[in-house]
Amino acid sequence: MFEAEQIAVEKQIRTFFAQGGLSDFPLQWNSIPFSGQWGITTSFFQAAAQEARQGKKVSVPQRAQELAEQARDFLGQPAGFERVEAVKGYLNLFYSSAEYARRVIETVLEKAQDYGRGDPKEMQVMVEFSQPNTHKTFHVGHLRNVITGSAVSNILEFAGYTVVRANYIGDIGLHVMKWMWNYMKHHSGEQPAGDLQRWMGDLYTEADRRFSDEPGFELEVRQLFARWDGHDPDLIALWKKTREWSLEGFAQIYDTLGVNFDRFYFESEEEEPGKELVNQLIERHLAEDERPDGPVIIRLDEILGNQADKYRVLVILRSDGTSLYSTKDLALAIRKFKEFPLSRSIYVIDVRQSLYMQQIFKTLELMGYAWAKDLYHLAYEIVNLPGNVTMSSREGTVVLLDDLIREACSRALEIVREKNPELDPAAQEAVARAVGIGAIKYPMLSRDNTKITTFDWQTALDFNGQAAPYIQYAHVRANSILRKAGGSLPPADESLGQLEPAEIALVDLIARLPRDIQRAAATYRPLDIATLAYDLARAFNDFYNQCPVLLAEPAQRNFRLRLVASARQALANSLALLGIAAPAAM
Ligand code: ARG
Repeated sequence: MFEAEQIAVEKQIRTFFAQGGLSDFPLQWNSIPFSGQWGITTSFFQAAAQEARQGKKVSVPQRAQELAEQARDFLGQPAGFERVEAVKGYLNLFYSSAEYARRVIETVLEKAQDYGRGDPKEMQVMVEFSQPNTHKTFHVGHLRNVITGSAVSNILEFAGYTVVRANYIGDIGLHVMKWMWNYMKHHSGEQPAGDLQRWMGDLYTEADRRFSDEPGFELEVRQLFARWDGHDPDLIALWKKTREWSLEGFAQIYDTLGVNFDRFYFESEEEEPGKELVNQLIERHLAEDERPDGPVIIRLDEILGNQADKYRVLVILRSDGTSLYSTKDLALAIRKFKEFPLSRSIYVIDVRQSLYMQQIFKTLELMGYAWAKDLYHLAYEIVNLPGNVTMSSREGTVVLLDDLIREACSRALEIVREKNPELDPAAQEAVARAVGIGAIKYPMLSRDNTKITTFDWQTALDFNGQAAPYIQYAHVRANSILRKAGGSLPPADESLGQLEPAEIALVDLIARLPRDIQRAAATYRPLDIATLAYDLARAFNDFYNQCPVLLAEPAQRNFRLRLVASARQALANSLALLGIAAPAAM
């Protein structure tokens, strides 16, 4: 934000070096950790060390401090800076807080919804997430994955990467065949009734129960699978039709959650290429074919010469020649890189699959794919629900996502009605939706993805704690101040000299957004943005409680209105990255 001033200072320091007979080298600038004032710093150790190398008898730290002091005196009072000091071999330059704040605000207001966006990086990243299985329900257990994957994609995109949002649908496997068997035998010709998700799920639960109760079921299901494998046209047609029902249900969920995908992959499409790959692996002696008595395996540790059990053995084909999860994953990874010039391929998958993912990545590396190093498993932990609600689609004890969303919205509606009875009912409903869905998303993102998170209503809907409604409410508050001020903002006023601590703290958080977005993108951590959004809301509320805006005297009122508008923008931009709506009123 003070690039010109920094360049001017650097030039002067060069002159100072030249006059002292020191050769030229680029200065390293860092920002000084914020402690109520912003500034930059550079050290003179390199210069001192250079003198020492040239044969001068000097103590480097002492000489560095000497040089820093001389540079300070040489610079005097450089433009744009309020204070210059020489400490322990460093030259620290501090900006005028009011001027710094004005520039931050200027930037935010000018860039608006693009504030924090990084320059395009010419790097393509694929994020594979969600990956639901057809013929089963989409339940609460799947939620953290979608929300994390989507937020990571948003963050990467905003940071400047080209993002491919990929889904990988589990549309084939024993679970699908069980469902089909039950449908053909007991529900033939039926159409989904009422809630698609629930209907599909209920039939799955029923199929699973029959699987244990009815003898002979297993054999029949296997036979059905063999028919599918043999491309039986009637069966394929029914499979396609029923699969579509599930996909339609998923689309509704993605729509509700505001999530979208660029590319859908299907497990069924990876079967054939996967099996071909297995043959290649056998030919290349990477895999051992133990059929018909055993499966096809890759002894990873043995190949790598590892003593300890690190990668163990990966099974890549069943003894009866049918494909496994791994068969398809190997083929899928290759397909992704064939289709897109990826610099990174990220898999958002349950932490329990960590060893498996490492086995897949290692196998691809052994096959010689240079991009194997660019594969990354973004692991996440489970979500606990209060009351120990189990989340098994087999036992039918799942909490359907729809039910959770409905409950969130109805709880939110109650609160909104109480807080804002004047709002018209349609608006109340819309706000309740934004708040309800935000309340579900935020707890999934505000804890490290590798840590178990507990979801409970009280925390999720807390208007006073670290929760989406609290952040959304800060946005609403900012909005209402601006509305009361008449809508349009006054132009910047240069006359304000001093800032209050609450103002400085708020400006500091707003200024952090671009850097924090880069860091969150580099480390795939939506948590950092979730935390920043909360810190921003808190700093805004502190400011709101300590600094009158509308009733302040003109220069202050002018500055504060512009600060409020910047805070509102920073809140909205960070919420957008998390996939959480920022309502105008609530
Ligand atoms: N559909 C799988 C499941 O529900 C998850 C797929 C994860 N993605 C992958 N490339 N293996 O367990």
